Amino acid sequence: MFNAVYHDKKVLITGHTGFKGSWLALWLARMGATVIGYALEPPTSPNHYQLLPIEVISVIGDIRNAERLKAVVAEHKPDIIFHLAAQPIVRLSYQKPVDTVASNVLGTVNLLEAVRESESVRAVVHVSSDKCYDNREWPWGYREIDAIGGHDPYSASKGCAELIINCWRRSYFNLQDYGKLHHTLLASCRAGNVIGGGDWAADRLIPDMMRAVQGHKKVVIRNPHAVRPWQHVLEPLRGYLLIGQMLLAGCTEYADAWNFGPSDDSALTVAQIVEKVKKYRPDMDCEFGAAGVQPHEAHILRLDCSKAIHKLNWRAVWNGEIAVERTAAWYAAYEASGLVRSLDDLRDYIADAKRERMSWAED
Ligand SMILES: NC(=O)c1ccc[n+]([C@@H]2O[C@H](COP(=O)([O-])OP(=O)(O)OC[C@H]3O[C@@H](n4cnc5c(N)ncnc54)[C@H](O)[C@@H]3O)[C@@H](O)[C@H]2O)c1
Repeated sequence: MFNAVYHDKKVLITGHTGFKGSWLALWLARMGATVIGYALEPPTSPNHYQLLPIEVISVIGDIRNAERLKAVVAEHKPDIIFHLAAQPIVRLSYQKPVDTVASNVLGTVNLLEAVRESESVRAVVHVSSDKCYDNREWPWGYREIDAIGGHDPYSASKGCAELIINCWRRSYFNLQDYGKLHHTLLASCRAGNVIGGGDWAADRLIPDMMRAVQGHKKVVIRNPHAVRPWQHVLEPLRGYLLIGQMLLAGCTEYADAWNFGPSDDSALTVAQIVEKVKKYRPDMDCEFGAAGVQPHEAHILRLDCSKAIHKLNWRAVWNGEIAVERTAAWYAAYEASGLVRSLDDLRDYIADAKRERMSWAED
C-alpha cells in the first residue's frame, strides 16, 4: 500500500492517544512502520488507543512543552510526522480558549521549530479541519484558496495553525530551496467530521448517541439541521497517508493545503445521521433541541474536494451509509462482548478499495 513507503519508516504521530491518532497508529503499524507517539494521556476512558493490539513507542508529553518535544524529535529521528495533537472540541474551546489556542497554535509552532532543528524529518502532514475556513454559511463547498477564519476559539485556532504552516513553509521550508537549503516538505489536510468506532469524546454526535444507548438514557440532539461532510475516519486518514507518500517522494507540488471530504450525497444534516443510526440502533431514544442558549456553531459546512479528485484521484471507499453502518456495528460488538473490530474495519476498507481498483491499495 502507498507504494510501501511506510514500511520500516520511523513515523511520529502527535495525538496518538486520541480517536484519529489511534486509528492512524494502527494503520501505520500494520504497514510495518515504527510508530512513535507524543500526546497527553488518553482523553477518555475507555479509549481506542489502549484497546488496540499495537506497539507504539508512546511518549506522554504536552505539545506546549517546546523543549520536551524537541528532545523527543531529536531522540527518535522520525522520517515523517503526522501532527494531530490538538484540543478538538468546539464547545470546550468556548470554556477554555487559552488552552485551545496554546495547544492548537503554539503547539504547531513548537512542532515546526522542533522540525527545523531536526536532520531526519522529511515530511510533515498537519491535520487541520474544515472549520479553518471563514464560514459564510455558503451552500457550496469551501476550496483550499478560500479565506481562512473561525468564529469560535477552536475554529480560529485551526485557522491560525493554517497561517503558521503557510508562514513556516514560506520562511523556512520554501519550495524553491527544497533539496538545497532544507529537505522537508509541509502539507496541511482539512477534513470534516469523522465517525467510526472508538470515539468517546464529549459533545460529539455519535459518541453522545452511543453513550445514551448503552446507559438506557435519552439523548438530546442539538442543531438537527446543521449540515456537515460526514465520513468514516479511515477516509481522511487515507488522504493524510497519500499526501505523506507524495511528500516523502519529494513531490513539491503536494506540499500544500488539501481538502478531504465525502461526495456531496454524504454532506448530511445531523437529523439525517440520527435517522441512519436509528436503523441500526432502534433502541435509541432521542429528542431534538437543547435547553437554554447554545454557543454559536456553524450551520452549513461543506468542502469542495475538486483538487484532491483531480490530482489524487480522490473518491470515497465507504459512503455515508456504510460509514454509519460500520460505526454502529463497532459499538454494538464492543458493548456486547468487548470486541474491538478496528482491524476488521481496516482490512475490509482496504479490500473494498482494492475491489474499486484504487491504486494506493495495491500490494
Ligand atoms: N474528530 C473529528 O471529527 C475531526 C474533524 C476535523 C479535524 N480533526 C482534527 O483531528 C485531530 C485529532 O482529533 P481527534 O478527533 O482524534 O481528537 P481526540 O480528542 O480524540 O484526540 C486529541 C489528541 O491530541 C492530544 N492532545 C491534546 N492536547 C494536547 C497537548 N496540549 N499536548 C499533547 N497532546 C495533546 C490528546 O492527548 C489526544 O491524543 C485534531 O487536530 C482535530 O482538530 C478532528
